[in-house]
Amino acid sequence: MQKVIVTGSGGMVGTYLIPLLNEKYDVHAFPHSDLDVTDVQKLTSAFEKIQPQIVVHLAAMTNVDLCEEQPQQAFFVNEQGTKNIAKCCRQHNCTLLYVSTGMVFDGNKTSAYEESDCVTRSVNIYGESKYKGEQAIQQLLQKFYIVRTTWLFGGGQRDKKFVAKMLQLGKKNDSLSVVDDTWGSPTYTKDLSAALETLCTKVPDYGIYHIANVGRCNRLQFAQKIFADAKMDCTTKGVRSASFPTKAPRPFNESITSTKLSAIHKMRTWQEALHEYVTTEF
Ligand SMILES: NC(=O)c1ccc[n+]([C@@H]2O[C@H](COP(=O)([O-])OP(=O)(O)OC[C@H]3O[C@@H](n4cnc5c(N)ncnc54)[C@H](OP(=O)(O)O)[C@@H]3O)[C@@H](O)[C@H]2O)c1
Repeated sequence: MQKVIVTGSGGMVGTYLIPLLNEKYDVHAFPHSDLDVTDVQKLTSAFEKIQPQIVVHLAAMTNVDLCEEQPQQAFFVNEQGTKNIAKCCRQHNCTLLYVSTGMVFDGNKTSAYEESDCVTRSVNIYGESKYKGEQAIQQLLQKFYIVRTTWLFGGGQRDKKFVAKMLQLGKKNDSLSVVDDTWGSPTYTKDLSAALETLCTKVPDYGIYHIANVGRCNRLQFAQKIFADAKMDCTTKGVRSASFPTKAPRPFNESITSTKLSAIHKMRTWQEALHEYVTTEF
């Protein structure tokens, strides 16, 4: 049985992915408290002890506004931490699967980003630090999957992100203003995880993959679908993102399409995935 190391296993993606990997692999899942990717000594000894064939690198500083406030720490974890992992993978000749983000793009494209689109410059530190991680992997390794995903939802009762926030606000308000000028591809973490497991098992060509549920929408349309699925009577009004200023700027477009994945794995639409999430996990 192949051995897999998973970093950042205590996060949202890890929660869905690890049970899937457990069915086929000897999984060594490390939450932050057990393995810090900036600690080279601990990483080295974990790799030496386990001798993995595959590494799924999920660990990251993911709070976009905190990354803007603490850029040094963001680059230390997201760039240097990824470089540390890539070096260990090179030494042990294992395949690295790195989960990156649609925020590496500047967001100026008016349609969904494809794998062949050039990255110019992210609008924030989080996107920039994740892109530096991608570059380190490409420089150091040949056997890698860089998976860009975006607008993940999941976690059910533990969810603190957009879906859970809208459900909470929808309960307390008859009407809400929601941003209508930022676009993305909402993606169920359960579906992303199934696709990640496919990459590990089917071993398609190495390289960059965009993985998201099919389709794109703006935040207002996302919120409207959440309220419809939850059968909530909350009316919505579109507003510009400038009405909700954040520490870190957000790109206007984070939507991506999965052009390379379709040959080996089918993704459903974001509407189908969201319906399942809202009606089964809350
Ligand atoms: N969520 C999204 O919408 C989204 C979109 C695109 C890409 N991604 C990428 O997908 C991956 C997984 O994201 P997620 O949604 O599961 O995020 P998450 O829930 O924040 O999980 C990330 C995990 O990494 C851990 N971590 C932070 N610093 C670490 C370090 N120095 N060493 C080891 N572990 C560390 C965190 O632990 P603590 O919480 O204890 O610090 C957390 O458990 C990340 O690489 C993220 O960049 C996420």
